[in-house]
Amino acid sequence: MSASQERYATIAIILHWVIALMIIGQIAGGIYMHNLPATSLKFELYQWHKSFGITILLLSFARLAWRLSHKPPPLPANMPDWERLAARATHIGFYVLMIGMPLAGWMMVSASPKDVPTVLFDVIPWPHLPGVPRSEGAEDLFAEIHKILAFMTVGLLVLHIAAALKHHFVNKDDVLAGMLPLVKKRG
Ligand code: HEM
Ligand code: HEM
Repeated sequence: MSASQERYATIAIILHWVIALMIIGQIAGGIYMHNLPATSLKFELYQWHKSFGITILLLSFARLAWRLSHKPPPLPANMPDWERLAARATHIGFYVLMIGMPLAGWMMVSASPKDVPTVLFDVIPWPHLPGVPRSEGAEDLFAEIHKILAFMTVGLLVLHIAAALKHHFVNKDDVLAGMLPLVKKRG
């Protein structure tokens, strides 16, 4: 990537925001549907949750492949080493969660003795993950992992947003503008 191209590429920006919005929706929707009484609405919402969740999984693989084959824009030159390290660790953590969280959800439904089929967006039948043991114990374990990963995502997101806002309003650099398509860069 050349020095003048200091914004993320359009494809990276689109994937970042589409995935971010879907993950936030999934967390709110997941908690909501979990607490509903067992009705047909709950069943419908579970199917939508699984559909968007698998979509996030596929988009995250695409995004990771893109990221591994492209350089991101450079961080501000005056950024201290510990902040660079923290940014890198947060980004790697997010990639692990963006893939690990839907995988844990998929393993949960694959382990369930109830054997509920998954049909993405009411159209595409989606298989259970092969090799996952089918038992209530395994289902509960993956459900717990799924929930813990969701909480970790919220924690990381708070840090991530705080860092983005600090860059923009305190450091007054172009880190946030680099992830926004229409905001004019300062430097
Ligand atoms: C990044 C994607 C995903 C996020 C952020 C997410 C988040 C969540 C959250 C926050 C809950 C509520 C947990 C609780 O209160 O116990 C939940 C529940 C659930 N998720 Fe996901 N999920 C994702 C993907 C998936 C996928 C791909 C599947 C299955 C294919 C799935 C299946 C489920 C199921 C079945 C529940 C209900 C568990 C229960 O009621 O005990 N999720 N999810
Ligand atoms: C669950 C939601 C989110 C996830 C999973 C997420 C994930 C990520 C990841 C993985 C990167 C690194 C991109 C790369 O180099 O491959 C990134 C960068 C970035 N994100 Fe997010 N993000 C989320 C929400 C947000 C929000 C709400 C904001 C704004 C307040 C934001 C602002 C940024 C900025 C400014 C960058 C560029 C930072 C840099 O160059 O170091 N993100 N995000």
